[in-house]
Amino acid sequence: MEKRRKVTTETIRQMKHRNERFVCLTAYDALIARIFDEAGIDVLLVGDSLGNVLQGHPTTLPVTLDQMIYHTQMVKRGVQYAMVVADMPFLTYQISAEQALRNAGRLMKEAGAEAVKLEGGERIAETVRRLTETGIPVMGHLGLTPQSIYQFGTYRTRGVDPAEAERIRKDALILQEAGVFSIVLEKIPARLARQITESLDIPTIGIGAGPHCDAQILVYTDMLGLTIDFSPRFVRRYEHLYQRIADAVQRYIADVRQGDFPSDEESY
Ligand code: KIV
Repeated sequence: MEKRRKVTTETIRQMKHRNERFVCLTAYDALIARIFDEAGIDVLLVGDSLGNVLQGHPTTLPVTLDQMIYHTQMVKRGVQYAMVVADMPFLTYQISAEQALRNAGRLMKEAGAEAVKLEGGERIAETVRRLTETGIPVMGHLGLTPQSIYQFGTYRTRGVDPAEAERIRKDALILQEAGVFSIVLEKIPARLARQITESLDIPTIGIGAGPHCDAQILVYTDMLGLTIDFSPRFVRRYEHLYQRIADAVQRYIADVRQGDFPSDEESY
């Protein structure tokens, strides 16, 4: 068996050229990151989805840079091989390229992020250029971009309307030209994702964007069935951990109440 190597931007660039799919998941701490890394995941995204998933907020907007640094540090400690990408939260990169550089620098220097992810197309192209010229790998994110949810007003599929589809196609080319090493495509029609994937030299990473992307990503709490209030059709549930954990905790409660736990073997 081939020796497993650390995944880098170069690894995934080569995978695109060999037509090999790579696989990504979100992670927010060392415990989970270690399991995913050992299972063989290629890229772990410390997503600002932790605002919804861990913090219980309705959107990703309240997440701060210090929180992203804290979670990225934890994920890094659990990982040996996967590439670790950190989301830049809302208003930590939109004000100016200088602001983005300072904050992306903190994610790399203080947390060990190997790349950062930014939402948006043409309007962040200059910032992407500045970061990549400084040696910071950038992952783009187009389609449904959750930091703009109040502007969209809805979580509906993006790029169904031909003008919006054209905008996303153009933004993808602009981001590639500005230097991103990959682009997340969220909740767009499979046909549009295919056109974009075929038009780019860099890999696309789909979430709700059909099967033609170079990679797929899911929020891990969705695919493992830990979140139960969110079930869009693009999520495949590989486990039902919410119920399994609740069942285990109920057995523990019953054992303690009945005096079955701890047993003699579990005592000193
Ligand atoms: O924050 C996040 O988890 C993300 C993924 C859904 C791509 O941006």
